[in-house]
Amino acid sequence: MFTRFRRKRLNPVLRDLLQETHLRVDDFIYPLFIKSGEGIKKEVDSMPGVFQMSIDEALKECTVLKNLGIFSIILFGIPDTKDSVGSDAMCDHGIIASSIRAIKEEHPDMFVVTDLCFCEYTDHGHCGVLDPILETVDNDITLTNLQKQAVVHAKAGADMIAPSGMMDGMITAIREGLDGGGFSHIPIMSYSTKFSSAYYGPFRDVAESSPSFGDRRSYQMNPANRKEAILESIADEKEGADILMVKPALAYLDIVRDIKENCSLPLAVYNVSGEYSMLKMAAKAGVIDYEKVMMETMIGFKRAGADIIISYHAKEVAALLNS
Ligand code: PBG
Ligand code: ZN
Repeated sequence: MFTRFRRKRLNPVLRDLLQETHLRVDDFIYPLFIKSGEGIKKEVDSMPGVFQMSIDEALKECTVLKNLGIFSIILFGIPDTKDSVGSDAMCDHGIIASSIRAIKEEHPDMFVVTDLCFCEYTDHGHCGVLDPILETVDNDITLTNLQKQAVVHAKAGADMIAPSGMMDGMITAIREGLDGGGFSHIPIMSYSTKFSSAYYGPFRDVAESSPSFGDRRSYQMNPANRKEAILESIADEKEGADILMVKPALAYLDIVRDIKENCSLPLAVYNVSGEYSMLKMAAKAGVIDYEKVMMETMIGFKRAGADIIISYHAKEVAALLNS
């Protein structure tokens, strides 16, 4: 006997009719890593298919992305010079400000999100200015610098600002900075619940942003904490964030669901570098059907409650969705 479950799984058309969760190309934001120079397109060993690119190459990449139907990117910069405060990130001619200008000029229809943090720009690799006594990031000086960085990005033409540094009060500070600078129309996508995760390892190779000492546990969250994870996103919602985020994604789908249920804002997940590399390496070793595992992973994010997926797989997913 077929029962009420199996009789609905027999016909493929009926299976499609009954599918509860769907992936769309519009769900995705694709990360780009920009380095100064020309004609640079350097693949990263730990992340096959991911490149450090110079601005001219990033412009070509935007054409490829748009042809796939991807119109949102998030930018990370690899500056020529790093210093103790991360000056390049607050300079109108820094790597990201220059990239935004070039991209918006050639691709005005591309929605350009910028990661707002200092770890790629500081010589010590931490996400802000260091307090010499505590030997960790000084919260409030870093907030002032984040305001500067946000205004620099907005002036250059960024469409949305995404602070990833996990400083207390960062949304209030950045909102004030943007509003005061005449950028009240620019939304903030907060990395509101970001864990201190070993899954960021490959990213730090690409972005050249490993901390030179210690780790990020005095600002990023303990992976063991669920209640605190919810509180972090609730706080950012109250501070005026426009979109919330959980990062990493795969090991934190319970938190995605929790935040979806406890907050009203749209929710993004960041399918991080280590998650991407695991699938790539497993595929290389011939132990998984890469495309199927990738799509199953993406639908899992949506089912858990994500509205937006930031992923290095976005191009491959789009190609499959379009086929
Ligand atoms: C910067 C930042 C990181 C990632 C996104 N923004 C690295 C970190 O916090 O160390 C990680 C993304 C990834 O692993 O793909 N703060
Ligand atoms: Zn950082």
